[in-house]
Amino acid sequence: MTAFPVRRLRRLRQNPVLRRLVAEHDLTPRRLVLPVFVKEGIDAPQPIASMPGVSQHPLDAVPALVEEAVAAGIGGLMLFGVPETRDAVGSGATDPEGILNRAIAVAARASRGRITVQADLCLDEFTDHGHCGVLAADGSVDNDATLEVYARMALAQADAGADILGLSGMMDGQVAACRRALDAAGHSDVVILAYSAKYASAFYGPFRDAVESTLTGDRRTYQLDAANGREGVQEALVDIDEGADIVMVKPAGPYLDVLAEVAAVSAVPVWAYQVSGEYAMIEHAAAAGVIDRDRAIGESLLGIRRAGAEAILTYWALEVAGWLNAGRSLA
Ligand code: PBG
Repeated sequence: MTAFPVRRLRRLRQNPVLRRLVAEHDLTPRRLVLPVFVKEGIDAPQPIASMPGVSQHPLDAVPALVEEAVAAGIGGLMLFGVPETRDAVGSGATDPEGILNRAIAVAARASRGRITVQADLCLDEFTDHGHCGVLAADGSVDNDATLEVYARMALAQADAGADILGLSGMMDGQVAACRRALDAAGHSDVVILAYSAKYASAFYGPFRDAVESTLTGDRRTYQLDAANGREGVQEALVDIDEGADIVMVKPAGPYLDVLAEVAAVSAVPVWAYQVSGEYAMIEHAAAAGVIDRDRAIGESLLGIRRAGAEAILTYWALEVAGWLNAGRSLA
């Protein structure tokens, strides 16, 4: 008679080489995308207090960031603009001389096709009220009027040389509106990354510092309710139907169930955004000495990967790519 226990699952965990061999998931630098804040009118990087280790960059720092990203082998840069002036309709977003469009042009010129240049397509950094769209007379966010602005913003970003447009505004019909405008203008090769399941989240807090957000109130009439998982899947399916090339779930860590469900049904690549608050939590906990920083970073990223993300936007992209390139494992 066999000795009890018969099933010994610890057998595959007994030493590092076996554990390495049977690991189901891992990350590679190509799957990491670095969000980058480019601020108008500064000439040196400005650290963001709520995000230790992350800065707002001047425009002329962009080529060096591109070189770092190319050297690290990461998948791309996601650019955000922080303008000096804002207005009710977010004019800076559609102006070719607006900070984001200039940053795209500088990045595309520096990249020369060696890395993807991605841009946030949303109005919140450019409106004086801080909402992701233009407002109707009653103060509500006007969905269809916003679509017209997004379509023009898509053209400005494509003209500037963006490879991938990250549609993060959560307006209904935004993927179709941008796709139609791009195709009509001969930009049929420009990729649409839809922030499909984007939740109204407290974890965007540090980001709002990073882009100096002017928002009062919240985004609950357009971003998803944390209580709803099925609706996140539906958002992704609608975006795929409208022509999204890639769909994304955001934030990542608190929404791993949504990520897994979207990954299970999506016919297009599925990405996740590990947002500013997820970053800040680990950095501040590590600074307080209550958590092993590097292991917590690795574990948080592996969890997102395990749930089904094929690429991850993370503020640690360059650092983690460095670890991976040095042969370090994340677990
Ligand atoms: C909207 C946008 C936001 C983030 C990315 N794109 C903020 C928001 O919806 O309020 C958040 C990213 C992060 O927190 O790291 N342009």
